[in-house]
Amino acid sequence: MSGVSDERFRILILNGPNLNLLGRREPSVYGAATLADIERDCRVQAEQWGVELDFFQSNHEGVLVDRIGAAYGEEDLIIINPAALTHTSIALRDALLGVGIPVIEVHLSNIYRREPFRHHSYIADIAIGQMSGFGALGYRLAIEAGVYHLKNQGTR
Ligand code: DQA
Repeated sequence: MSGVSDERFRILILNGPNLNLLGRREPSVYGAATLADIERDCRVQAEQWGVELDFFQSNHEGVLVDRIGAAYGEEDLIIINPAALTHTSIALRDALLGVGIPVIEVHLSNIYRREPFRHHSYIADIAIGQMSGFGALGYRLAIEAGVYHLKNQGTR
């Protein structure tokens, strides 16, 4: 609940590099929805579940690390599509471990059906779980899974 007066759970959705290009970026892989479409959809979903939502995108690893650090004591759960940083970033992993906030990993595409270098995630083994391959729906599913987790803390 993060000390917010209305006691609503607070979820941060983080998006990594190039996700600002969604809609025109390889639509056959990532779909037609823009990040603004996805944010709108997530806000509707969050409202339905009665949770507060913060939504953020950056192309810069350090900015994402800073945003995760700022989430300490503020956010109850982080949903992250780290994009290419999934496969490279120990810094993002350490930031998530550092704040100790439960994490759900999202990918629009099914990373396990793609090039071998996308099969490894630095986040997967520290996450509650992962949505991969469901397109924009994955974000909505992650919100539902996140709310379920927060209401049933400790059950995975
Ligand atoms: C992605 C998958 C990553 O491998 C890729 O680098 C991305 C997007 C996805 O949502 O499918 O940028 O995270």
